[in-house]
Amino acid sequence: MNQTQDFIQQHKQRFLDELIELLKIPSISADPSYSASVYQTADSVADHLTSIGMHHVEICQTAGYPIVYAEWTKDTSLPTILVYGHYDVQPADPLELWTSPAFEPVIKTTDIHPEGAIFARGACDDKGQMFMHVKAVEAMIKSGEMPCNVKFMIEGEEEVGSENLGIFVKENVEKLKADVILVSDTGMLANDTPSITTGLRGLSYVEVEVTGPNRDLHSGLYGGCVANPINVLAKMVASLHDENMHITIPGFYDKVVELSDEERAEMAKAPFSLEKYCKALDMEDVYGEAGYSTMERGSIRPTLDVNGIWGGYTGEGAKTVIASKAYAKISMRLVPDQDPNEITKLFMDHFTAIAPKGVRVKVTPHHGGEAAVTPIDSVGYKAAALAYEQTFGKRPIPVRSGGSIPIVAMFEKILGLKTILMGFGLDSDAIHSPNEHFGLFNYYKGIETIPYFYAHYTELTK
Ligand code: BES
Ligand code: MN
Ligand code: MN
Repeated sequence: MNQTQDFIQQHKQRFLDELIELLKIPSISADPSYSASVYQTADSVADHLTSIGMHHVEICQTAGYPIVYAEWTKDTSLPTILVYGHYDVQPADPLELWTSPAFEPVIKTTDIHPEGAIFARGACDDKGQMFMHVKAVEAMIKSGEMPCNVKFMIEGEEEVGSENLGIFVKENVEKLKADVILVSDTGMLANDTPSITTGLRGLSYVEVEVTGPNRDLHSGLYGGCVANPINVLAKMVASLHDENMHITIPGFYDKVVELSDEERAEMAKAPFSLEKYCKALDMEDVYGEAGYSTMERGSIRPTLDVNGIWGGYTGEGAKTVIASKAYAKISMRLVPDQDPNEITKLFMDHFTAIAPKGVRVKVTPHHGGEAAVTPIDSVGYKAAALAYEQTFGKRPIPVRSGGSIPIVAMFEKILGLKTILMGFGLDSDAIHSPNEHFGLFNYYKGIETIPYFYAHYTELTK
């Protein structure tokens, strides 16, 4: 892979300039007013795949945004790596908290990224990380060192639940035939502490609506006499955790896979400073389920969080009113072997059952997905670990992440393939937040590490 590494060094500036151009297109999948930009981004990704020399590039239409698919075949007897990523991004709001506009990428230095980081929505999640693969494959093709076959499948609806990708995968099992799936859409511990993500949590997401009286009421005339939906919702939400921060929904933990003491001891070896963690977030202390460490609470344990809650008067000054309705959006992060549909049902039954007389409750499910784990004794994991060792000079630490990429569990179910999660972002990169960024160190390290994965994977499967 020497020629490949030389090629990367020679084209560093162009690799950065190209990513910056891609980051300028606001591909926000959640907001229909950006639809033209989402399509434009798909075209741009397809153009890049063509220009690096992929043999076959296709923009596959779906009921939603297109999936960009590409193939490069060396020899069908060699292994095939299927690269998955997403070109859509989260909305950029609240805009006023960005120190530079979300879709005008700039390089700035931070304490953690002294060599600079690209600030833009999607810089880390996932345009920057997805594009590392495009550039790594370019370097291998152009230097004549591609050791195996590669397929790309880049979607535009990850941030809204990947519904159409699920359908696409089911309908294209033959086309997507591969030996392993490679994804960079997660993180690592620190720039001097490489790690590989070995697990993702599942997700069940619901929206609740609590209705009291049939219209807004004067809080003096009716206060104290009727159920106030906001008071009631607050109380219902608060009751979903007990004093130990266990979730109170009956049956919620029934299928949770508990880790053995050995596994927990192994996990505890990963470097983690509670003090630094609190300091980075300006908090006096952490908060969570009794009996588990912060690392465990954020990865191997299921959780329930309100993501938004609203109702009543929130404008200037004071308006004395009892609102007719109150709302909340609630996410539950799941672990193996919790079934998202079952959990959603348990939530619905429980939430309806605890509603007092005088209110009506409606629960609407949103998207969800199952958790996933990658065993560290798989060939894919071993190849990835060797690749990191080569570029970081250190053995990577296996770490289970708290985030979700629901399609990963579907890859396993539908295609029978394990996914290797080679994430190069940092938790501090502010994904989904204002001032999202991606370190230049991380971008280039990703591009340099990926070719070694190809080489080791091909070698190990011989
Ligand atoms: N790339 C993230 C998931 C992620 C980030 C996993 C960091 C591990 C570490 C992905 O784009 C994402 O945001 N997923 C959503 C779920 C999806 C169904 C909207 C999430 O985790 O909230
Ligand atoms: Mn992502
Ligand atoms: Mn995301």
